[in-house]
Amino acid sequence: MKNKPISTALAFVAIIGISCKREGAVNKREMALAMEGSYQGTPVSMQYDEKIDSLIAQMTLEEKVGMLHGSSMFATAAVERLGIPEFTMADGPLGVREEISRDSWAPAGWDNDFATYYPAGGGLAATWNPEMAYRFGNSVGAEARARDKDMLLSPAINIIRTPLGGRTYEYFTEDPFLNKKMTVPFVVGVQENDVAVSVKHYAANNQETHRDYVDVQIDERTLREIYLPAFKAAVTEGQAYGFMGAYNKFRGDYLCENEYMLQTVLRDQWGFDGIVVSDWAAVHDTKKALESGTDIEMGTPKPFNEFYFADALIKAVKEGKIEERYVDRAVKRVLQVMFTIKAIDDEGRKKGELSTEKHFQDAYDIASESIVLLKNDGGLLPINLDNIKSVAVIGNNATKKNSLGGFGAGVKTKREVTPLEGLKNRLPESVQINYAEGYREGYSENEKAKLGDITLNGPVTLDELDPVLVEEAVNAAKNSDVAIIFAGSNRDYETEASDRASLALPFGQEALIEKVMEANPNTIVVMIAGAPFDLTRISEKSSALVWSWFNGSEGGNALADVLLGDVNPSGKLPWTMPRKLEDSPAHAIDAFPGDSTVVYKEGILVGYRWFDTKEIEPLYPFGYGLSYTEFEFLDVQTDKATYQEDEMIKIDVNVKNIGNITGKETVQVYVSKPNSTVERANKELKGFGKAELKSGETKTISIPIPIKELGYYNVANNSWEVEKGDYYIKVGNSSRNILSNIKITIN
Ligand code: BGC
Repeated sequence: MKNKPISTALAFVAIIGISCKREGAVNKREMALAMEGSYQGTPVSMQYDEKIDSLIAQMTLEEKVGMLHGSSMFATAAVERLGIPEFTMADGPLGVREEISRDSWAPAGWDNDFATYYPAGGGLAATWNPEMAYRFGNSVGAEARARDKDMLLSPAINIIRTPLGGRTYEYFTEDPFLNKKMTVPFVVGVQENDVAVSVKHYAANNQETHRDYVDVQIDERTLREIYLPAFKAAVTEGQAYGFMGAYNKFRGDYLCENEYMLQTVLRDQWGFDGIVVSDWAAVHDTKKALESGTDIEMGTPKPFNEFYFADALIKAVKEGKIEERYVDRAVKRVLQVMFTIKAIDDEGRKKGELSTEKHFQDAYDIASESIVLLKNDGGLLPINLDNIKSVAVIGNNATKKNSLGGFGAGVKTKREVTPLEGLKNRLPESVQINYAEGYREGYSENEKAKLGDITLNGPVTLDELDPVLVEEAVNAAKNSDVAIIFAGSNRDYETEASDRASLALPFGQEALIEKVMEANPNTIVVMIAGAPFDLTRISEKSSALVWSWFNGSEGGNALADVLLGDVNPSGKLPWTMPRKLEDSPAHAIDAFPGDSTVVYKEGILVGYRWFDTKEIEPLYPFGYGLSYTEFEFLDVQTDKATYQEDEMIKIDVNVKNIGNITGKETVQVYVSKPNSTVERANKELKGFGKAELKSGETKTISIPIPIKELGYYNVANNSWEVEKGDYYIKVGNSSRNILSNIKITIN
């Protein structure tokens, strides 16, 4: 099923042309809010500069250098005699990582480092709700404080360029606008806890394959329009105190040694005042890294004095090869952030809280807005408990936990509700649950592959089904009124340091799903995964298809609530689900993964921009997701027909819930520029708004779009430029379900 309106009975009033609602001068504050977003961070404080200069003047070269490299796995050295503590860090995107040993990756074995496991980045983005990003940030930031961390190595916001990406689950989206709208509140939320973020991985780190050395080539316009907007907004709006330099190279230089990216773009153009931390072992040259703007070198085990920013730096300064002012510059930046977050003189510093019911509730609320209903043709969902006495729960993913797993940061948590546990918690006792594992997670004997060796295209799965497990699953399905099969992947399979080799469902799942569907036509397929899979066949055959994520401590409860109808699903895909890999831009034109170099030949046509411009039908489009109720969009209007460059378009949409239950809908506004003088995507997301509506209720969703948002990056003069002329404002509820097309003109 593709591009289907939410309601076939959708009495939508398409408006081509304009109806003027509220003419008049644009309120300046409204404009600022729309342009910069309603979430604004607090900048790095400069008020301690005198004190900082005096501290630096008292420090020895060795003390200063000690502050610029890992002196343990996740901290730099203290200068105790001057009252400067260690600068402490922790991963990461799924919640505050368990405590790691000081000098190895082994867990430290503490018993007070249990944390809340939050939904992974894809799930957060699927809420299309910046308020959820703020809550996530604020909640995980409080946990970082409670664990006495100064910097959280999060958010991870690289653009999803290929559906195969090993870290797709961790990242947000393929779209730069949605990316920045989720990034900024996240950053603000974290930092309100007196903890710095480390926005990562800056930048152009869109694949794991060859990530340690691949040289990424992106043209300037594409860089600015697709890969950088969220990083930029993290600085200019979120006031991020930290960035993490990526592993790979960009235009010939490693990102941690890249003067263009670290100095020209990040600091000179965007005004970044914070700390650049290297990814773990991403520095390759002492002088180049320090001088171009990396401040702290972190790494993986080797004697800490052997880091590039350790003895080698001291030596280089003593020999006059590096000027000491570069050391002072980095130390000053670190101290400025430390004072700002009250890591020194910590009076009034927030104390945070860890693993509280409030935080589990945050994880639950995010998870319950993240689940995407992909298909519900036969009315199987929500499950009607009046009609059933038994449910078959099938699949290894019904019990699989994902807070830990694979290569990369996870969370040690006391609570991870699996889908099976969620159903047990929520189903009345009178309903019999018939569980069958169905398929088993298995990998080839090659242990290196299992751990995601970067050269091996990901873990190699064993895809043969065990006939005994299949029989059990089929019997469970036959003997139950409804069958739910939990398929997808897990964090051993989708993992940092490798990309997947294909979009195929692993472990023989496709064959199993088909057998279960044959055994019981009332089968609901639930995917638990962080990245697209080839669901073309499954989607044709099944009438009920749900997408969930690595969805945090309360993921199983949220999923059960969606399946049983206590929560009406409102998630929308943050990326395109292709019918086949070759339909995706980087794969269609053979521009992945490269070898020593990868050229992003698709340019600005990333994600739906490619599918729409090339008229390729995706399986499920960007922005797509159904609800148990139906909505109408009525009276879509812009406030004027003609605008000047410094103005703002106000789009009002009356959304009516025409179904029987409360639900949430996301209005999405895309913009097209016909007859542009430069290449343009068929349409680009420029605004969105989500609202909850009771049955029968109508609400006006207002979406402001500053005209400046419609600009393209003009490489001739290195600036954003808004072309004059006609534009189309396309309002819909997915990138492929455009319900209104309004022409406006910019003079
Ligand atoms: C990852 C980072 C992470 C760091 C520390 C690296 O391998 O790329 O995202 O923050 O390790 O765990």
